[in-house]
Amino acid sequence: MKIRTNRAFENLPKNYLFSETAKRISDYEKTNPERKVCRLGIGDVVLPLGKTAIKAMQTAISEMGKTVHGYAPESGYDFLKESISRWYLRRKVEIPSEWIFVSDGAKNDLGALSDLFGKNPIYVPDPGYPVYADANLLGNHRVYRMAAVKENGFLPMPQAVHHKRAIIYLCSPHNPTGTAYTKKQLQSWVNFARETDSLLIFDNAYEAFQPEDSPHTIFEADGATECAVEINSLSKSAGFTGVRVGWSVFPQNALRLLWARRQACKHNGVSYISQRAAQAALSEEGIAEIREHTAYYLENAALLREALRDNDVPFAGGVCSPYLWLQVPEGYTSWDFFDQMLRKAQIAATPGAGFGKYGEGYLRLSAFASRETVTEVCHRLWKCF
Ligand code: MLT
Repeated sequence: MKIRTNRAFENLPKNYLFSETAKRISDYEKTNPERKVCRLGIGDVVLPLGKTAIKAMQTAISEMGKTVHGYAPESGYDFLKESISRWYLRRKVEIPSEWIFVSDGAKNDLGALSDLFGKNPIYVPDPGYPVYADANLLGNHRVYRMAAVKENGFLPMPQAVHHKRAIIYLCSPHNPTGTAYTKKQLQSWVNFARETDSLLIFDNAYEAFQPEDSPHTIFEADGATECAVEINSLSKSAGFTGVRVGWSVFPQNALRLLWARRQACKHNGVSYISQRAAQAALSEEGIAEIREHTAYYLENAALLREALRDNDVPFAGGVCSPYLWLQVPEGYTSWDFFDQMLRKAQIAATPGAGFGKYGEGYLRLSAFASRETVTEVCHRLWKCF
């Protein structure tokens, strides 16, 4: 075979971050089968699905035994889009269901969005979810990094952008640092985007971890429907990492038409069963279950915060986010320290450098774990510092 392959792959790190960490953890486990590794690495949920979603799935399966539900509409069933619209109304934000596109999770949409862009400067937070940069590099877009560092509270502001007509990725509460923008800060971003004809891509995957009076959607900011696209997920809130449902909101006509065309070409909808589960997760009962789950993970985060303080480890996050961002001791790179934690204390974390160059010197701990695991980690932390 002599085909030419996409040279843009050469611009990506050799391995995807979570594939590399999974490999190192599994290699360690193979050579040390007697040691129990506590996993606080990838942000995958550990609590089972809520009862409301399960019941809806069971009903949907029975229905499918009686009636045919073939290809789902590309942008999602109306029943789910209407539930999503109502979810926004809880925040006093009007999002017509025609703006909503149901997806099989935020990652796919975040990865696919670059299909829509011509030649624009792309700005991503660094450290940030690796998909923002990787997907744009694969599409041969020029990517600029906005440093999310201690000096700016790990939250880059518009001063970090030096172009007009930029495409700017934001995530709040931020993965991986666990910090979150205030309403005022989000309004500054929206004002900036409008003044500079830029587009904000707002990754809202961790919204459920925010306190009630904090922003729960970019569309709470005035004018955001002119300049923002929002990507949502039920993975971390309703525990849908294995079910796969999310949604994206495209308020601007031109982008929405392109996205609809793109989806018609490359996407074939989300299963009826999953969409019924998502509808249930967004009902009053479903939202109450989401609150219970996020409260559990936030209690884990509080225990980790306390243990880090006891060990004099500087850190951010863990208050309105399942992630804690801790400084590794001097003399270590974040990958060295990741290996060290695994070897010395059997704690699996995620090295900060995997989220970008400004993540060097840091490590992410995830509170998506059982209470037992988190308690064990709190007891073992001293071995690493
Ligand atoms: C993470 O752990 O940062 C992500 O949630 C993993 C993912 O969603 O791909």
